[in-house]
Amino acid sequence: MTDSATAVAHANIALAKYWGKRDEALALPATSSLSLTLDAFHATTTVTPDPDAGEDTGTLDGRPMSDGEVVRVRRFLDLVRSLAGSSLHASVDSVSTVPTGAGLASSASGFAALAGAAAAAYGLDLDPRALSRLARRGSGSAARSVFGGLVVWHAGTDDASSFAEPVPGGEAGGPLDPAMAVVVLDAGPKSISSREAMRRTVETSPFFPSWTESTEVDVALMLDAVRAGDLPTLGALAESNALRMHATMLGARPPVRYWTAHTVGVLDQVQALRADGLPCWATIDAGPNVKVLCAGRDLPAVAEALSEGGTRRVVTARPGPDLRVTAGGAA
Ligand code: PMV
Repeated sequence: MTDSATAVAHANIALAKYWGKRDEALALPATSSLSLTLDAFHATTTVTPDPDAGEDTGTLDGRPMSDGEVVRVRRFLDLVRSLAGSSLHASVDSVSTVPTGAGLASSASGFAALAGAAAAAYGLDLDPRALSRLARRGSGSAARSVFGGLVVWHAGTDDASSFAEPVPGGEAGGPLDPAMAVVVLDAGPKSISSREAMRRTVETSPFFPSWTESTEVDVALMLDAVRAGDLPTLGALAESNALRMHATMLGARPPVRYWTAHTVGVLDQVQALRADGLPCWATIDAGPNVKVLCAGRDLPAVAEALSEGGTRRVVTARPGPDLRVTAGGAA
């Protein structure tokens, strides 16, 4: 018996990045990664299997999904149906507080919420690790949005060993007390999808092998810093790791460049804030926006400094919660 189900998942921002797959079909990443789930952005998704529907349909923020979006959702539901032994099509309705496709982790929260809602609606009884593996198949970074706080995604070598899990120490108000100021420079869709940009990087960037080697080391060093409650070490590693990710994609042919002059301007500001004694570190994903890691107690000051007298949109975020199913599920 299937029923409508709704799930809520929060966005996450990687401190050690996932960039490049070792297996496209299974969405196995080339490296492990580490992220912080944020309270500020989330997606709420309802999946309603319908015995009378001839195909899957969907809405995003109240508008019909584009053909490309429907194809991705359908492919994901095919996987859920094969696991559940069901042939029912469904409608998928998703509302997100994250601007879509702007390098603000919309696919992470979106596919984690879809995984949670679809698993419940089709009656799959999955533990959080299995949900993380399922979400990974929709969008790699979604594997991490199944969990709140700090999260490590183990690259693994096959479907069973590539999953995310929470890392203790990421709680608000704890010794590390991580927080983020998200500087929204451009909330429009990105010029090239992360999927396509990763493929191009893996295939053509001569820097890619060094990127994967050094990121595995970064993840281990960052986990040490988390255990030690050492935010300055974690932050410095995170900023360096983000710059290395962008270096590897700049090395692709044709090059992939998500930065604008404004992006570089924020990097300068973050450096200046540090020089002035306000500890904070920048990270950048597949878009021009900059996310700035700092301690929770410094968040108001960092956000205020980056907002340029209120003329620029800065969203403040603290550690967010686990994925949760809020309504429905198989009876
Ligand atoms: O999950 P995807 O395919 O949207 O890729 C995410 C890639 C980055 O956001 C740039 C890095 C990361 O680890 O989240």
